[in-house]
Amino acid sequence: MHNFAVKRCVWGIMAAALGLTMLAPAVAVVPKGYGLSPQGDDLSVATKIPKGYGLSPEKGDLPAADPIPEGYHLGTEGNSAISTLRPEVCPEVPPIPQPEESPAVVPPVTESPVVSPPVVEPPKEQPVSPPLVSATEQQLRDRAVKQLRGRGLSKAQTEALTLRLVSSTTLLVLLEQGELTTDDLVYLALPNGRSDRLDRYSSWAAAHPKDKAETVVLQVNMDRDRLFYEDIQTISDPDSLTVLVNKNYILPDSYAPKLEALGSGYGSGSLRPEAAQAFRAMADAAREDGIALRSVSAYRSYATQRSTYNRYLNYNQQAVVDTFSARPGHSEHQTGLSLDINTANVQAHFENTPAYAWLKEHCAEYGFILRYLQGKDAITGYRFEPWHYRYVGVETAKACMDQGVTYEEYLALQPN
Ligand code: DAL
Ligand code: ZN
Repeated sequence: MHNFAVKRCVWGIMAAALGLTMLAPAVAVVPKGYGLSPQGDDLSVATKIPKGYGLSPEKGDLPAADPIPEGYHLGTEGNSAISTLRPEVCPEVPPIPQPEESPAVVPPVTESPVVSPPVVEPPKEQPVSPPLVSATEQQLRDRAVKQLRGRGLSKAQTEALTLRLVSSTTLLVLLEQGELTTDDLVYLALPNGRSDRLDRYSSWAAAHPKDKAETVVLQVNMDRDRLFYEDIQTISDPDSLTVLVNKNYILPDSYAPKLEALGSGYGSGSLRPEAAQAFRAMADAAREDGIALRSVSAYRSYATQRSTYNRYLNYNQQAVVDTFSARPGHSEHQTGLSLDINTANVQAHFENTPAYAWLKEHCAEYGFILRYLQGKDAITGYRFEPWHYRYVGVETAKACMDQGVTYEEYLALQPN
């Protein structure tokens, strides 16, 4: 459970305890800075409202110890938010005893000028946050800056986070609710820090205390915190030209792309039309340089990959097979975007041929990357395969090949 979930439960327990001593709802005027309606003018509970608890917009005030029902606004000191806290989120919180009679209903604003004074400009040091839906960009920026002050962040981190918080009000609300740690902020300040992976960053950092934030984010973005073939995610967009298929992501067994035969003079098999066209163009260019490139294996169906993998298992231990053959559903060959060029055999030492040297230099110009790089087995899950190329499009291919990074690293470095 993430720390903010824990915090919510702690608040819940405190609020429940408060509820025991507050069976009757308080209806006195609220001191400045405490509970308010979405309009900021309906102040009626004479007690400090714990963060995450408060008033309903339609029904007047709730006892302060009540959790905010979904959709109700509340806050103290700029902590205006919509709570999504529900009892089932926090099952260990005992139910709050309810008074026999219904809580006194606060009269509407117009009928009760004493309880609901006219809206006055709030003092500067205690600004009332407007509801997010109507907040201007400048207001959001001010709120972000206010929250980031005093957190020990650098100027660059503060600037990056401010931009991010202005465009993600969900994150801003979490920050205002005190649910983001300084470490969370450091991760989110990185261009590739993913807000849905904060728990995983924390776990990785706890297990690798010497890792810098950049390393933590990169490793987790590459799913290095997940063992190969455990906690496998099914790919939802198998038709994407940039789809990631590896030991953590599986293609549906029924997935088969639209294919086009490579044609005579280009070796065997078929690829998706974009990849087939690019391979032919690459092979034509290589031929002009005196290099012959031919496909020896291109698209492979789920069933073909299953029998290929199982065949290897007949005379190798699975741990060994897993270093060079993908389990069914995990092979890039099923995407119709990958192919093996000239060989698929370690003994051929393709890495020592002029064809390999040509491919390393030129494959990206045609949108292909060398997919399983030497010395990157821990990331890709496979040993060096100098013959296996994957079509990803020219721009992405150039970025990967220029930087000498695997596709996993490239994707993990991408900004949000
Ligand atoms: N040889 C690669 C990893 C595959 O089986 O897809
Ligand atoms: Zn291959």
